[in-house]
Amino acid sequence: MSVIKVAILGFGTVGEGVYRTIQSHSEELTATLGKKVEVAAVLIRNTQKKRNISENVLVTTEFADILNLEQLDVVVEAIVDKEPTFTFLKSSIERGCHIITANKEMFAHHGKELLELAEEKNVSVGFEATVAGGIPVIQTLRQLLNINRVKQVQGILNGTSNFILTEMREKKQSFTQALILAQENGYAETDPTNDVEGFDAFYKTMILSRLAFGEEPNWQEVEREGITSITSELIEAAENAGLRFKHIASITMLDGQIKATVKPTLVGKEHPFYHVEGVQNAVNVQSDIVGEITLQGPGAGMFPTASAVIEDLVYVCQNPPVNRNLTRSLDVTTEFNKNDKQETWLVHGLIHKPITPSITWIEEMEEGTYVISASSKEVIQLAKQQKNLVYFPILGEYERVNRVKAALKAL
Ligand code: NDP
Ligand code: HSE
Repeated sequence: MSVIKVAILGFGTVGEGVYRTIQSHSEELTATLGKKVEVAAVLIRNTQKKRNISENVLVTTEFADILNLEQLDVVVEAIVDKEPTFTFLKSSIERGCHIITANKEMFAHHGKELLELAEEKNVSVGFEATVAGGIPVIQTLRQLLNINRVKQVQGILNGTSNFILTEMREKKQSFTQALILAQENGYAETDPTNDVEGFDAFYKTMILSRLAFGEEPNWQEVEREGITSITSELIEAAENAGLRFKHIASITMLDGQIKATVKPTLVGKEHPFYHVEGVQNAVNVQSDIVGEITLQGPGAGMFPTASAVIEDLVYVCQNPPVNRNLTRSLDVTTEFNKNDKQETWLVHGLIHKPITPSITWIEEMEEGTYVISASSKEVIQLAKQQKNLVYFPILGEYERVNRVKAALKAL
């Protein structure tokens, strides 16, 4: 029986998960592909670490050793940073290998170039693991929503951030305690700043934007904010209003332009993201034919990510290359979130209530904390006037009755 030879670059959470899954699911892989899948080599950096790798596998710190293997069919990349990763993957494609990557930072920067080179060399690129861990959102957009005109994509795209917010709310953990746990579980990036300041979700958002709309917004114009400003006090104030903080990426079409934001947002009980907890991620796609769909699942961790990679392995080996440049028909008439559109907000830290007829004061939650209806322009103006004011958009309908119900229950 012929063999598919795989090299794995990196043997951390993801690389080891892929290695172990190739062993544990070898029968399924052989049955599906009609060929045995073998790990031929693993690239590492630190030779002192103990690793559970078979003696038959070449373990090396030199990428050249991998490129020089007699047979090499697929290169799986699970290391960090843009370089040397990009260079490694370019060389792998040049050699005629299919590539699979989990590295969203690299792919957000260089994905287009890799896809173009792969097309030229007639090989495939798998990048399911770059967005939302184990959720098959890339293939859903890439293969299953080809004809649909996507109007909006929203997602909880960072498992670490969602895990921290859940731990802080449910278990009253501090931010730091929750982050340490996320790191111990293998969810966080090597530099967790990428997770908690929203960079990781930003890169994923740019990858999704290309898939959903065929292009990206100007990176400089994307509003990106992480979860470091969310205190336990804010989480409690939100809970009292029947709301939960979620770190949400949103990509919409505004006057024919892509608009993207990545920021903490509040959702009520009726919103599909309200019950997305812990390391779970979710992606909500609105498109013209199917309407609205929400995919949910584990967004980080060893085996959820290995699942995405292993399914990519089958995809790249089975399918003729479909690396076409992910261009889509756009529904340019869609207009979301115009600056002057009234939206619902939670504002916290208000010192005095201004007399502004266009702001509707829906509910006072506690002193200085209000649910209001206003345009984003007005809220920004309010925050300029009152220094310590923080404000968060509320997605979906805000149910004022929650508070009334809670008060009645307490009687
Ligand atoms: P880890 O830090 O656990 O592992 C990184 C691995 O890469 C280590 O084995 C390290 O080697 C190796 N490595 C780093 N730099 C180099 C280099 N220059 N040359 C050779 N080897 C190198 O990271 P993860 O496994 O968590 O993440 C890997 C990638 O997958 C990242 O891009 C991440 O964003 C992405 N990802 C992570 C997910 C997760 O849940 N953790 C989920 C989805 C994607 P050594 O062991 O010798 O130190
Ligand atoms: N650090 C990332 C997260 C890993 O927490 O979502 C998955 O991409």
